[in-house]
Amino acid sequence: MSMSIEISFSKTAKISGGLVVALGSLSEPVSAAARSVDPAGQLDKAVKVSGFTGKPFSTADIIAPVEASADRIALVGAGDPGKLTPHDWMRVGGKMFTLIRKAEKVTVLLGDGGSASPEATADMALGLLMRAYSFDLYKTKKGEEDENGSRKLTVVIQHEDAAGCKKAFVSRQAIADGVKLARDLVNEPANVLGPVEFAARAKELEALGVEVEILTEKEMKKLKMEALLGVSLGSVRPPRLAIMKWQGGKPKDKPLAFVGKGVVFDTGGISIKPAAGMEDMKGDMGGAAAVTGLMHTLAARKAKVNVIGIIGLVENMPDGAAQRPGDIVRSMSGQTIEIINTDAEGRLVLCDALTYCQERFKPQFMINLATLTGAVMVALGQHHAGLFSNNDDLSQALSKAGETTQERVWRLPLDPAYDKMIDSKFADMKNTGGRYAGSITAAQFLKRFVGDTPWAHLDIAGTAMGSPSTDINQSWASGFGVRLLDELVRANYEG
Ligand code: BES
Ligand code: MN
Ligand code: ZN
Repeated sequence: MSMSIEISFSKTAKISGGLVVALGSLSEPVSAAARSVDPAGQLDKAVKVSGFTGKPFSTADIIAPVEASADRIALVGAGDPGKLTPHDWMRVGGKMFTLIRKAEKVTVLLGDGGSASPEATADMALGLLMRAYSFDLYKTKKGEEDENGSRKLTVVIQHEDAAGCKKAFVSRQAIADGVKLARDLVNEPANVLGPVEFAARAKELEALGVEVEILTEKEMKKLKMEALLGVSLGSVRPPRLAIMKWQGGKPKDKPLAFVGKGVVFDTGGISIKPAAGMEDMKGDMGGAAAVTGLMHTLAARKAKVNVIGIIGLVENMPDGAAQRPGDIVRSMSGQTIEIINTDAEGRLVLCDALTYCQERFKPQFMINLATLTGAVMVALGQHHAGLFSNNDDLSQALSKAGETTQERVWRLPLDPAYDKMIDSKFADMKNTGGRYAGSITAAQFLKRFVGDTPWAHLDIAGTAMGSPSTDINQSWASGFGVRLLDELVRANYEG
C-alpha cells in the first residue's frame, strides 16, 4: 500500500511546521482558529484572492503567510456546518484528503463554537480515509502519489472534545477497514484471488473473533449443492463455501444473515461472454466481498448482534467438463433447474447458499448481495442498487439506511406474473426468463429458495464496480454494501 494514515484527536494544537487545514464556513470562511496560525493577518487577503467563500466541499490551498507557525495552510468549506448530514461530513473529509495527500504531518483545525460534533468529526475522518484508498499493489513504478514508496501520513484533528471524537471514531475506523477489505477483494485479479484464496482471506477474520468455517467441494457434494457445484465444473480451481459467524449478541438471539455471490471470474461458461469488457468480471464476487467487509466491520466494532455471513465461491469457465445449456441440476432444496444459459450462474450459486443458510441457522432475515444482472444497470444505472424483497419492513429499513449512507437502493417489483416466466418444460424452473425484466426474473428465481424467511436481494452489478468517482471513492471497486448494511444493523438490530 502506498500510504498509511494515522488519525488522532487532540484538545490542543501545538503547531510547528507542517500543513494546517482549517474548516471554513459561509459565515466565517477564515475561522478564528485559522487566524491564530497567522499572526500577521495575511490569510484574509489570500482567501479573497483565491475566491474561497466557505461553500460546502470547496477548497483553497494557500502558501503559509510569513510569520505563520505552519509551512502551509489550506481551507475546506463546510457551508453551514449545522446543516451537513453525516455523509456530507464524509465528503468534507474526502475533499480534505485532496489537500493533504502529499503532506507528512497535518493539523486539522475545526471552526469555533463546536460546529462539528464529535460524530461529525469522526465522519469527516472516515471520508478522508475512504478517499485516500487506492489499489496499487501491482504498480512497480512509483507514481506521483507515493514518491517515497510506502508513506505514513499523520493527521491530528484538534477538537475540544477529543475524547468524544476518539470514541466516535472507533466505529468509523472499523467501517473504513471493512470498506477497504471489500474494495481490495474486488480489485484483486482472478489469477491471484481464486475461490481457495478468497476463502483464506475470509479465514483471516478469525483474528477479530469471527468464527470461520470453510466447506470444500467434497462437503458441498454431501450437502447436495448441485446448483452451485454445476457452475464450478468448468474450472480447474475447486469451489468453496465460507461461513463467517459473529456472536456479539445474546447466545439465544436468532442471527441476521448476509449471503454473497462470489464468482471470482465469470466468463459466462459455455454461453461465453463477448471479449469486450470481460476483464471486469474479476469483480463478479462483489457481493461476497461486501459480506466479508461487513463481517470485518461488525467484528472490529464489536457489534452487539449475532450475524452470519455466507459466501459461495466459484469460477465460471468454459471447458470440456463445464456444464451445458440444457443440463438439469438438482439444487440442495430438492427443486430442479434447467440450465438455459450458463452465464446466468450467480443465481445458481446463491440458491444453494440461501437454502443452506436458512436450514442451518434459521435467521431473522436473509439479505443477499450479488453482481447478478447487466439488466439492473439498464434499469437503474450506477446510482442505485436494485432491491427486491418479500418483506416491506425489511425493504423500508434498507431504503432508509441507503439514504443515510448514500449507498442507495431502489425497490423493484416481485410478482407471480414474472415468476411464470421462469417455469421450465423439463424441470421445476429454468435459470433465465428471456429478454424482458432480466433483473426481476433473476430475483423471482432466488425467491423460490427462501421460503417464509424475511428476505431481500440487492443486485449490485451497477454499484459495486466501475463506479463513478466521488468525493469518497476514486477506486474502480466501491465497496458498496458495507456501509449500507452496517447502518442497517446499527440502526435496527443492536438493542
Ligand atoms: N455477472 C453477470 C452480471 C453482470 C454483468 C455484472 C455486467 C456486472 C456487470 C451475470 O452472471 C450475468 O452474466 N448475467 C446475465 C444473465 C443473463 C444470461 C440472463 C446478464 O446480465 O446478461
Ligand atoms: Mn454470468
Ligand atoms: Zn456473474
